[in-house]
Amino acid sequence: MPNDETRIERDRIEKRRFRIKDIDQLKLVDDVFNEYTLKALYELMNRRIVLEVYGPIAQGKEAKVIWGKDYDGRDIALKVYYTLANRFINRDPYIMGDRRFTRKPSNPFKFASMWCRKEFRNMKRAYDAMVTVPKPIAFYSNILVMEFIGDEGVPAPTLKDAPPEDAQAAYIDVVLNVEKAFIAGRLIHADLSEYNILNWNNKLFIIDWGSAVDASHPNLVELLTRDIRTINRFFDRLGALTIDEGELVNALIRRSRGRYEFIDGRLMIDGEDLLSYLKFNV
Ligand SMILES: Nc1ncnc2c1ncn2[C@@H]1O[C@H](COP(=O)(O)OP(=O)(O)O)[C@@H](O)[C@H]1O
Ligand SMILES: [Mg+2]
Repeated sequence: MPNDETRIERDRIEKRRFRIKDIDQLKLVDDVFNEYTLKALYELMNRRIVLEVYGPIAQGKEAKVIWGKDYDGRDIALKVYYTLANRFINRDPYIMGDRRFTRKPSNPFKFASMWCRKEFRNMKRAYDAMVTVPKPIAFYSNILVMEFIGDEGVPAPTLKDAPPEDAQAAYIDVVLNVEKAFIAGRLIHADLSEYNILNWNNKLFIIDWGSAVDASHPNLVELLTRDIRTINRFFDRLGALTIDEGELVNALIRRSRGRYEFIDGRLMIDGEDLLSYLKFNV
């Protein structure tokens, strides 16, 4: 029998639930749902990608993340990019130099949609490169739909809030994911940190791929180094043995010139994985 607490919790969830007939009310509940965003949501619902949406679970600088369900009853996360011009932070340094995005739209709707599309494509590339990311499902206008990491609307905590039990294993996991993204996905995250990694029962998911750039980016060394430095700093503090950033960046760049293959989910170049290449064994 459900106790009071679960009943209250269920009521709370019920109140946050919106079916297609009343999503117009979302406008009143949350200012992220303006006409443009509602139209996108209708479209995703008509395409039977989204069944229901619930309340917001996180609010960032450029987007709000909302919990929903798909037609199979699975939890999904909807990342809704703000369309208000004043909410945008200046992202020019990232966009510039990435040949996939040469123009900066002045229209805030187009700008939000462009970021959404960029993040979706990056996530798809990372996902296809076997990087552990939430599975990207679809996008429309300024809404990105992806696999929900967490349980019943409670998102998995970030690595910052939930440090891993085994810091050494987690560090190696992150580094190998960076390598897969870079070599198999030809992608640099460019905003990698303990805030953009979710820890779901000690399985790590790298999120927030909006700023990621193609490996042909002119500042690739700088961006890759910054990602690794941030990660090293975090894991150093947790007492993990980390790989010298310069050595790691050089190894990744040298290895990116070889031909890779996946063996049992491990990325190999000339039959060697990154750790044996670096003779890094702990
Ligand atoms: N797929 C997901 N499943 C569950 N929660 C998520 C998911 N994606 C994002 N979140 C939640 O939203 C927060 C912000 O997401 P993020 O992509 O980092 O956006 P921002 O650009 O605002 O930093 C995360 O810390 C997490 O709490
Ligand atoms: Mg983030």
